Amino acid sequence: MIRQFDPSEDMGTPPVWPEYSSEYQEATKVELVIDGNPVSVPVGTSIMRAAKMTGAAIPKLCATDSVAAFGSCRVCLVEIEGKKGFPASCTTPVEAGMIVHTRTERLESLRKNVLELYISDHPLDCLTCASNGDCELQDMAAATGLREVRYGHEGKRHRYSEIDTSNPYFQFDSSKCIVCSRCVRACSEVQGTFALTVEGRGLDSKISASGMPDFLSSDCVSCGACVQACPTATLVERTLVESGPSERKEATTCAYCGVGCTFDVHLRGDRVVSMTPRKDGAANRGHSCVKGRFAFGYATHPDRVKTPMIRDHIDDAWREVSWDEALSFAAAKLRWVQEKFGRTSIGAITSSRCTNEETYLMQKLVRAGFGNNNVDTCARVCHSPTGYGLKQTLGESAGTQDFDSVEYADVIMVIGANPTDGHPVFGSRLKKRLRSGAKLIVVDPRAIDLVKSPHVEAAVHLPLLPGTNVALVNALAHTIVSEGLQDDAFIQNRCDSSLYAEWLDFIIQPQNSPEALSAEMGVDAAEIRRAARLYAKADRAAIYYGLGVTEHSQGSTMVMGIANLAMLTGNIGRKGVGVNPLRGQNNVQGSCDMGSFPHELPGYQSVNDENVRARFEAAWACQLAAEPGFRIPNMFDQAIAGGFKALYCQGEDIAQSDPNTTHVEAALRAMECVIVQDIFMNETSRFAHVLLPGSSFLEKDGTFTNAERRISRVRKVIEPLAGKADWQVTQALANVLGLKMNYQHPSEIMAEIAALTPSFASVTYEKLDKGALQWPCNDSAPEGTPIMHEDTFTRGLGAFVVTEYVPTTEKVTRRFPLLLTTGRILSQYNVGAQTRRTQNNLWHQEDVLEIHSHDASERGIIDGMRVSIQSRAGETTLNARISERMQPGVVYTTFHHPDSGANVITTDNSDWATNCPEYKVTAVQVKPKLELSEWQKAREQSA
Ligand code: SF4
Ligand code: SF4
Ligand code: SF4
Ligand code: FES
Repeated sequence: MIRQFDPSEDMGTPPVWPEYSSEYQEATKVELVIDGNPVSVPVGTSIMRAAKMTGAAIPKLCATDSVAAFGSCRVCLVEIEGKKGFPASCTTPVEAGMIVHTRTERLESLRKNVLELYISDHPLDCLTCASNGDCELQDMAAATGLREVRYGHEGKRHRYSEIDTSNPYFQFDSSKCIVCSRCVRACSEVQGTFALTVEGRGLDSKISASGMPDFLSSDCVSCGACVQACPTATLVERTLVESGPSERKEATTCAYCGVGCTFDVHLRGDRVVSMTPRKDGAANRGHSCVKGRFAFGYATHPDRVKTPMIRDHIDDAWREVSWDEALSFAAAKLRWVQEKFGRTSIGAITSSRCTNEETYLMQKLVRAGFGNNNVDTCARVCHSPTGYGLKQTLGESAGTQDFDSVEYADVIMVIGANPTDGHPVFGSRLKKRLRSGAKLIVVDPRAIDLVKSPHVEAAVHLPLLPGTNVALVNALAHTIVSEGLQDDAFIQNRCDSSLYAEWLDFIIQPQNSPEALSAEMGVDAAEIRRAARLYAKADRAAIYYGLGVTEHSQGSTMVMGIANLAMLTGNIGRKGVGVNPLRGQNNVQGSCDMGSFPHELPGYQSVNDENVRARFEAAWACQLAAEPGFRIPNMFDQAIAGGFKALYCQGEDIAQSDPNTTHVEAALRAMECVIVQDIFMNETSRFAHVLLPGSSFLEKDGTFTNAERRISRVRKVIEPLAGKADWQVTQALANVLGLKMNYQHPSEIMAEIAALTPSFASVTYEKLDKGALQWPCNDSAPEGTPIMHEDTFTRGLGAFVVTEYVPTTEKVTRRFPLLLTTGRILSQYNVGAQTRRTQNNLWHQEDVLEIHSHDASERGIIDGMRVSIQSRAGETTLNARISERMQPGVVYTTFHHPDSGANVITTDNSDWATNCPEYKVTAVQVKPKLELSEWQKAREQSA
């Protein structure tokens, strides 16, 4: 009999692959008897795991269910009738008809002897140890009844070594190490970094971090997998050493990136002492990255704004005031502006950092309270082309798969994304699949880590020039069609035949061939053909893409080109395939879903549609404007032109994150009232008249929706530092403005969302508290939809769209001969407001300009030299880093530090359909320069 077990329990060894396929697991059952209990488990299951399923916990040390069994400690021995000796239960798979005994006298004696040897070489400081009460060695000593150690306690293997505290978040105390190698296997199998090894043999064996003197100088990326796997206090969080063990825990969702990892927040009193990834987190399956696992300290950083502030003019000093005074001041300003400049002179920007419920309230306030549709979201500047492109082709503005799907893919094409930095936990899952045999195609101007890293190498890397994505996707499609590799049956059954015929006429034209476009892209035509064949011939081929696809003047075209490619090859509607946008921020999918775009109410329902408006008007008891409102760039342009005068900006630092900083600053300066709601003062608050303190994810209830459309609970673990959660602030402002809102809890907001949004109709907090749900979640799919478009597309028949390549107007010239492209790195997050206030700064203290050695030497630039980067929009300076990741002619930087001014140089160019900025292509000149740029000097002076 298999008992119900807690998903957080350690089952000893991993489930058999494919781990998440219940069909497979059901189809391959084997029956055996363990300690008199019959059990039926899938072929390949270890005896240890099967025993645990019956409730028999076999003692163990070197086994844990996150990594493959290794069989080194010999604690888990069992007896099997008819077999000689005492096999290790962790490495012995079940066989039909086996009769296993896990608790005989002989076994108990053997295990006790093994434990005795371990304890003889282990410090006996249990009472003061950080892992006291949470140590498997301690537990096993107790489980085996060990009371005395005949060999003394003077084992000197590890006892006098120094503790490695080089990593800011965890320490390594080798005196406590039992060399079980769980950490080594976790680093290799779960994280895929291969930073750890066991050095030496026998009694001299010890754990080594890349052969370096300490963890910080090694290849370690601080994901925490080794700390999670360590059964002793050898690898342990420094917060636990400093503060003692936690007293309670609560499950929540990471507030950094769009992977949406599930964590337990551990607290001691009101202090968060650690965050550990949950194995039942469907997005992360027990894994984490340095940000979610360790970089939570920003939430209680002294810089947090805890009191509302107001001022009449942006040159005045701030005045701290009560919530009532701040809200009345803000409401009076908004009403004054509307009376003087008109109904459409004010608007709001919602945040992809905030919860679904908070975002929903913001857009409701704008539409029902401000009486216009001037609401937009930071998704405008990242994935708005995804929403547009996928809606046009497939019928739904979201990715098609769940993350588990990657484990079934045979070929994986990564376009304009850097998962190991931007979406690290997904990056690890992707690398795991590559190590087990899938082939990889990377389309990126830079040689990102995936191109070549330990045990992973791309079959094809297409280092195209920034701005030529659409040429590439057309060349891939042309190859597939011209070589007859398309999936005719899928196209015939699932797609609109007339649109396909029209597209076919276009794509087959010779100007779309790899040979014709090769020079434009700077990529060998033969390599493009190789990539196309690899993708088209795979049984299951998946595309994952990021901002390197969307942040272009043809971002929407490229998204449609990707969807065309997937439909052309039948790679939609199954596991292991699909079109997968890797969403940036934690709730960027949610902020789009919740009606943050000026033309769409929640659930992508058009404001133009009278019936849609009528339903919302009835529910909200108001009249809604039928005409779409301003997008963010329109707000800026209108502000400068004098037609847009007040902005309520929640949780987005537009002055740092949006392109052409000088233009954004001018727009903000031109407004009569800027209300910033944030957890810190930021670049935008320099231009604000009202500062409303925000709340971190630890301080509120709600939900985030990740890149898989998965809606996960966010749970309040501490009270809001400023007294109000963000949804309460918006509600209070709405009430002062006369729009009545009286929600007592975010669950009531979700109930309203579900009532008005067909794709959320069956979403409730009751269900979400049992587990996350992927929308659409409604009567047709009450438990959610992991994979979309299985039998039919949301729009009915899939629509091929002609994707003509139109080169960007941002061209290199003699004056601006290099192309700048931007991205982010693992340790920092976007504008860095959170991560810069943690010890993650150790890994990335400044943004640098990566430049190829050829371009550097042509300009007399050496590594570390200060250089000016000048574009048509502006100038900034950074330190240069010579990097062979770059190709000649292309330079790269990140934008995590405000003083870098990366967006001073990006231009106003944007996607033709959505206005998503063309961040990824800026023509620049780079020259040595010692002094700061004019913009940087002015910023320094005003700071
Ligand atoms: S550090 Fe921990 S996990 Fe690694 S070998 Fe030592 S005891 Fe095992
Ligand atoms: S923290 Fe992660 S990357 Fe670093 S050694 Fe441990 S498992 Fe490897
Ligand atoms: S991968 Fe993203 S969601 Fe997961 S822990 Fe890291 S930052 Fe958080
Ligand atoms: S747990 Fe099986 S040999 Fe260590």
